[in-house]
Amino acid sequence: MDNFTYWAPTKYVFGRDTESRVGQLASEFGGKKVLLVYGGGSVVRSGLLERVKSALDVAGIEYLEMGGIRPNPTDDRVYEGIDIVRSHDVDMLIAVGGGSVIDTAKGIACGAPYEGDFWDFYCGKKIVGNALPVGVVLTIPAAGSEGSGNSVITKSDGLIKLSLRTEHWLRPKFAVMNPELTFTLPAYQTACGIVDMMAHIFERYFTNTADCEVTDRVAEGVLKSIMAEGRKVIDNPTDYQARANIMWAGTLAHNGICGTGRVEDWSSHFIEHELSAVYDVAHGAGLAVTVPAWMRYVAERNVGKVAQFARRVMDVADTADDHAAAMEGINRLREFYRSIGMPLSFEELGIEQPDIPELVAKLHEHKGNPIGNYVKLGPEDTDAIYRLMY
Ligand code: NZQ
Ligand code: ZN
Repeated sequence: MDNFTYWAPTKYVFGRDTESRVGQLASEFGGKKVLLVYGGGSVVRSGLLERVKSALDVAGIEYLEMGGIRPNPTDDRVYEGIDIVRSHDVDMLIAVGGGSVIDTAKGIACGAPYEGDFWDFYCGKKIVGNALPVGVVLTIPAAGSEGSGNSVITKSDGLIKLSLRTEHWLRPKFAVMNPELTFTLPAYQTACGIVDMMAHIFERYFTNTADCEVTDRVAEGVLKSIMAEGRKVIDNPTDYQARANIMWAGTLAHNGICGTGRVEDWSSHFIEHELSAVYDVAHGAGLAVTVPAWMRYVAERNVGKVAQFARRVMDVADTADDHAAAMEGINRLREFYRSIGMPLSFEELGIEQPDIPELVAKLHEHKGNPIGNYVKLGPEDTDAIYRLMY
């Protein structure tokens, strides 16, 4: 196990009706004038936005609104939010929604106090050293942004999707998590979330750092729970306990606990981000196609952990040799994705003629060369991985 610092100061407030505590939580973290950020309308239709506003009214907190954030959020809305914050002296962001909304709020939170272009942080020119506090009311368990210090934004000019990682500046101060808010999620979005949270664990599980038995077992346990509870929420979208388990799993998958003490990978995410940037597919659906292709490729070069995953998580018999176990584990993972309605190929993802050379060129231009750690991947490798997605 490597040395590590684990710092995850978000206050999670979990359970039914917890959105009624938003005003009190905003006060606790110093909010006096809030910008409410939300998406394309689900929180308006469900009445959640009105309930959040009422909670702020009761606490005497002023608010402005910025709605209409789209999935795979773009920089233009971040600039717009920064202008609103500066011109109205807003001192806190509250995101009511999922990863796209939260990440937009985080972009605004670090961009508003900075005199330069907020994109400097995303492209690695500057390191975040200040940010307004961010609170979250989570409506979709998926991206894990409610517990991460990260934000993913796409620059419209050139469709460059980049992930900003901070140790603590962009970790939300509080996250309100009411599983009932996820009852309205369409099955497809629920499944995308399940795939994404599993991928957040894979990025940390597939490592060459030895002797992380506790972290491995935590990761394996959460993965197994996600598959069991995931089947339940797909079959019965209003199963509160299953929704609750999936919601908490999404946070644990990405708040760092599954990565403690080891080198992480992240190449599946980098490979997928090019797909969702260019073809605007849902991130989780893109991962359902990307992750098995990546696993098949790396298993040929470094089979150990893939075989361990197959045996411990996918219940492949111990008698199979490592390579056969790994392949069977990957098949079972694909079957699971299929069973929850996820695509397994470019075609099923709705990408008819992917421009693989262009994807590979952009990938390495934006994310470096090589990418990944479990197996280091250069352009020839990533080209081959994209070709396994047909
Ligand atoms: O916009 P509305 O109308 O709210 O609809 C949303 C949206 O269409 C809908 N939805 C959300 N909650 C709902 C609901 N519909 C009905 N009932 C509800 N309760 O779901 C759709 C998807 O929302 P989105 O926020 O895009 O989903 P997700 O949480 O999966 O976020 C995806 C984004 O997060 C990034 C992804 O790349 C992508 O841009 N990621 C962010 C990470 C981070 N910050 O740490 C890590 C992840 O790996 C990921 O890359
Ligand atoms: Zn993800």
